[in-house]
Amino acid sequence: MKTPSSLIEMKRKGEKIAALTAYDYPTAQILSLSGIDVALVGDSLGMVKLGYESTLPVSMEEMIHHVKAVKRGISGPLLVADMPYLSYEIELKEALKNAGRLIKEGGAQAVKIEGGEALVPVVKELLKIHIPVMGHLGLTPQSLNRLGGYKVQGRDLNGAKKILEDAKRLEKAGIFALVLECVPADLAKKITAAVSIPTIGIGAGPFCDGQILVSDDLWGLGEGPALKFVKRYANLREIMTESARRYSQEVRKGVFPASEHSFSSKG
Ligand code: KIV
Repeated sequence: MKTPSSLIEMKRKGEKIAALTAYDYPTAQILSLSGIDVALVGDSLGMVKLGYESTLPVSMEEMIHHVKAVKRGISGPLLVADMPYLSYEIELKEALKNAGRLIKEGGAQAVKIEGGEALVPVVKELLKIHIPVMGHLGLTPQSLNRLGGYKVQGRDLNGAKKILEDAKRLEKAGIFALVLECVPADLAKKITAAVSIPTIGIGAGPFCDGQILVSDDLWGLGEGPALKFVKRYANLREIMTESARRYSQEVRKGVFPASEHSFSSKG
């Protein structure tokens, strides 16, 4: 079973970390069979599974519901749960209680929070109650309204400097890994060299210690074209739509169920 320290050890040995999101029991089983190191129950849950326009409406109850489902299917990957918007930013006590629920009720091994230096006290307090913390810098979707959209971050000198400084501050506070989302590849390379905890990139180029994708993007489950940083390894949306269409046609024509799908009486 992967742990926060085994990820740090992987960086030390120069082994790349493969992470994916998971939101349910079958996906957790598939990730466990696929050599994935980290399963993140991301608050992307809200957009890819619950149909929200952003991650902002995701609640603690929704997160816990899905973390529990993933926990039942996971065996091997480190299980990390996102703390949803407003579950950790307002009061330290609330942050501790909510993170504790993701661990105690959900069964997560660690939590992830989005943001820089303002979160240093949160990281330190969570560590005091034995909750490992993953950081998240660059494009932080919970700051969507302040950022003015889903834009690449750290392209200018000041922006890049701030992200690098935040990475160092969070490392010092005690995070065990850092997600870098949508930052230039050269900045991700610089941060990766500057910290001894693993960086896990999404839209951050090839120089991070690991990579993460939203599993629905990798499997081609969502609608519309893939984002620039996504590689689609399958087109499940097409396969699922086509198979549901064939099923509905066969039901209408009386082709399904056939005799091999039917039970006979005993006598
Ligand atoms: O919510 C999420 O899925 C994430 C990953 C994209 C890193 O935060």
